[in-house]
Amino acid sequence: MSVTIRRLAETDIPLVAALEAETFPDPWTAKMFVEELSQASRAWFVAEDDGLVVGYGGTAILADDDAHIMNLAVAPAHRSQGIGRRLLDTLMRAASELGAQRVTLEVRAENPVATALYESVGLESVGIRPEYYGPGRDAIIMWGDLPDAERRPVADDSGELILAIESSCDETAAAVMRGGRDLLANVVASQIDFHARFGGVVPEIASRKHTEAIVGVVDEAMEQAGEALRLDGPLSFSELDAIAVTDRPGLIGALVVGVAYAKGLAMATGKPLVGVNHLEGHIFANVFADPAVKPPLVALLVSGGHTSLVHMPEWGVYRTLGETLDDAAGEAFDKVAKVLGLGYPGGPILSKLAEKGDPAAINFPRAMMKSGDYAFSLSGLKTAVLTHIRHEEQAGREIDVPDLAASFQQAVIDVQVAKAVRAVEETGAVAFCLGGGVAANHALREALTAAIEPLGVHVSVPPMSLCTDNAAMIAAAAHYRYVHGERLGLDAEPSARGPLDTL
Ligand code: KG4
Ligand code: ZN
Repeated sequence: MSVTIRRLAETDIPLVAALEAETFPDPWTAKMFVEELSQASRAWFVAEDDGLVVGYGGTAILADDDAHIMNLAVAPAHRSQGIGRRLLDTLMRAASELGAQRVTLEVRAENPVATALYESVGLESVGIRPEYYGPGRDAIIMWGDLPDAERRPVADDSGELILAIESSCDETAAAVMRGGRDLLANVVASQIDFHARFGGVVPEIASRKHTEAIVGVVDEAMEQAGEALRLDGPLSFSELDAIAVTDRPGLIGALVVGVAYAKGLAMATGKPLVGVNHLEGHIFANVFADPAVKPPLVALLVSGGHTSLVHMPEWGVYRTLGETLDDAAGEAFDKVAKVLGLGYPGGPILSKLAEKGDPAAINFPRAMMKSGDYAFSLSGLKTAVLTHIRHEEQAGREIDVPDLAASFQQAVIDVQVAKAVRAVEETGAVAFCLGGGVAANHALREALTAAIEPLGVHVSVPPMSLCTDNAAMIAAAAHYRYVHGERLGLDAEPSARGPLDTL
């Protein structure tokens, strides 16, 4: 007999539903299985014997980040052959790979065979849910650790432990990472609310807020790392291999706070200091999140502070192809939103409004689209929007805000896409990645993917939490610098400017 365990496919569902109806008095319907398959953070498997489905099971990672075993059943004629155990092992491994560390389930109180199976993998009964399966039929609640998750950070102790600090703009952030891949802690304290009423980042406020937040943010990261490593308390600074910090480019008064703090820590602990260029961090957010991101690659970095196209022909080598000559893309979104009285930050507000507007309603200029180089200019577009508003007001017409938002956004996107495609083609890149706050713009993500993927180039957009400023990306970039022996002297000063090319 050769029973194999494989992922549940939609075509298995009729057989699985039939087996379910045979096994349980209150069976799941076929529709419920279909719905499970369409959701993220689920893993369903079947046991197959000679093309026949003889067992199945599924797990879900719910909002609490714990794995819930949703269902597990083996056909009567196939019981007592270890199939249930194999399915259970597979589910627990899958749950661990999905990031869960603990597992829970309910089992019928009158099913001692199943209870024994769960106990054999370390689950314990912690309570009863009375009448969970109907009148007179209680459920036993069981909980346990996922063995892989418990071992993972400890087993993988080959990589170095880096604490990274980021304070270049309006987020105070700290992260702890092992070996450039294993993110043990990631803390971001945003100051956005303090800047919102001024319609943009106020440098003096940023410095002050960084100073207030940095100790708490770093302590919280060390706490999180201690939990991830299953230590009794926070990770101690003496366990670190290095301290990394964003030292350029950004608001100088903001950078100073992170750099001074990191230097102080390095001095007190005798640990080496690693300096990271913020833009390199945005590229490494992609490297960290998507292993398919490899050089030669092109990155488009678009945020409130930067708009640049960067070529990375090989690891650690950068050439800035072009930058904005005036406003950054996010800044343009923010300024247009401010003129319309919509609030700050403008990007998310305008892109939401744009969904309901017509991108072809107003023909705004596509500055430098055909300039033959990689430079951007966005201040003309902002002026064109202002002129349009004034013109409409003078003519006594009401402004269609969704149309204006959609047309403005399209003008930005068209130029970005045209230049990105050209950069990919001219450099022969195999991967393209996007970084910075404006990478949250769905229309931009879709337009870039639609234009670049057909060229056979891998397109990567990191999850939102890694698009906006964070220290996980700084830690990932620092790993690369650290293993290549690059260190920052304790006399180093941060710099407001700092193209990647000088690294
Ligand atoms: O990277 P980030 O968090 O901070 C800087 O380094 O600037 O980027 C913030 C910028 C803001 O200008 C914001 O308006 C813009 O990103 N942004 C967006 C969207 N979400 C954020 N721009 C366009 N569309 C969006 N959905
Ligand atoms: Zn940034």
